[in-house]
Amino acid sequence: MGNPWFESVAVARERARKRLPRSVYGAIVAGAEAGVSRDDNLAAFDELGLRPVTAGQVTGQKLDTTIMGQSASIPVMISPTGVQAVHPEGEIAVGRASAARGIPMGLSSFGSKKLEDVIAENPATFFQIYWAGDRDAMSARMERAKAAGAAGLILTLDWSFSHGRDWGSPSIPEKIDFKTALEHAPDVLTRPRWLLDWAKTKQLPDLGVPNYTTNPDYVPGFFEAYGEWMMTPPPSWDDVAGIAEEWGDNFMVKGIGRGDEAKRAVDAGATAISVSNHGGNNLDGAPAPIRVLAECVEAVGDQCEVLMDGGIRRGSDVVKALALGARGVLIGRAYLWGLAANGQAGVENVIDVLRGGIEATMRGIGVRSIDDLSPADLAIPDGFSPTPR
Ligand SMILES: Cc1cc2nc3c(=O)[nH]c(=O)nc-3n(C[C@H](O)[C@H](O)[C@H](O)COP(=O)(O)O)c2cc1C
Repeated sequence: MGNPWFESVAVARERARKRLPRSVYGAIVAGAEAGVSRDDNLAAFDELGLRPVTAGQVTGQKLDTTIMGQSASIPVMISPTGVQAVHPEGEIAVGRASAARGIPMGLSSFGSKKLEDVIAENPATFFQIYWAGDRDAMSARMERAKAAGAAGLILTLDWSFSHGRDWGSPSIPEKIDFKTALEHAPDVLTRPRWLLDWAKTKQLPDLGVPNYTTNPDYVPGFFEAYGEWMMTPPPSWDDVAGIAEEWGDNFMVKGIGRGDEAKRAVDAGATAISVSNHGGNNLDGAPAPIRVLAECVEAVGDQCEVLMDGGIRRGSDVVKALALGARGVLIGRAYLWGLAANGQAGVENVIDVLRGGIEATMRGIGVRSIDDLSPADLAIPDGFSPTPR
């Protein structure tokens, strides 16, 4: 390949599409049911306009902030995503890239690399759990994360086990052995560069989830852990309060989609929320988070940090989210595509693309500091947001 640098997330996505086996690429693009929410996550950003200045542009803007007590060179952090078989270095590469660019990282309990090893690369790592397994197992996961030095905890609560997709779900084996290799050969053999990356490590991709367990001698497979999660009765807000109390400070609830729920999360002890619909992988028909962000900000005021995720593909998206009251954003697919396209350097490239886009947008709208962004910087169409609740 020529110059591996890419100029936009769209280019990274295209490179990932060409490089990854179709099943792996399909699992990242995903989206639930008809993909309405996934598509709305992007469409909603396009509906928001920016109010430009001509003379009076500003340079050297202030872009840094803190997210759950960790410094962030730009108001962006890595969102937790499960099983990064897109690249042999997975979350280790993401940890290195985010640390090199000075932003925090969320690490999934369904991730593929041990949290101790990821935290060694980026100490500003927040560990993400689901309400899965019995309460003792959750406590043990939290204790392990504390012992490893996790900078915060993210509890993701919006998953509703909606499995059907109108375009069909790719078949993904738990481990690649001789039989599954043969079954998947047509898919995998057309992607020699991806295969070569793995061949160099003398390992085959497997879907083990080492952070789900607290038993050092046993790494469950993704589907085993997923099955247990699916059988776990959903939590009440009192249960959430119990987790908040047990963990302490720097506790985020991820997956909020309504103002009244944002308030409940704060009442339960959240110090941060992410307004999110799981990248549209979940309850199809849930509005894009950017549409309900202002409602959530309004509901909690300054009682907690409000972040959002879903559909961030360019720096102007970050600026729009901040103008509507977010402290920062989380990115998901964008960095997975960068990782697939060019490993650690690809993730750094994505973060640089976002930084450049934030700078250019703020220059164009004449705003010197991210702290000064407001809805007045945007052109917001009537009916952009659903009626608050
Ligand atoms: C492949 C994939 C795996 C994900 N796994 C997790 C996960 O393990 N935990 C979690 O909290 N969110 C998970 N998410 C959701 C992301 O953290 C984030 O909410 C979403 O990707 C944001 O939307 P975006 O991809 O448009 O940026 C996953 C998303 C994708 C695409």
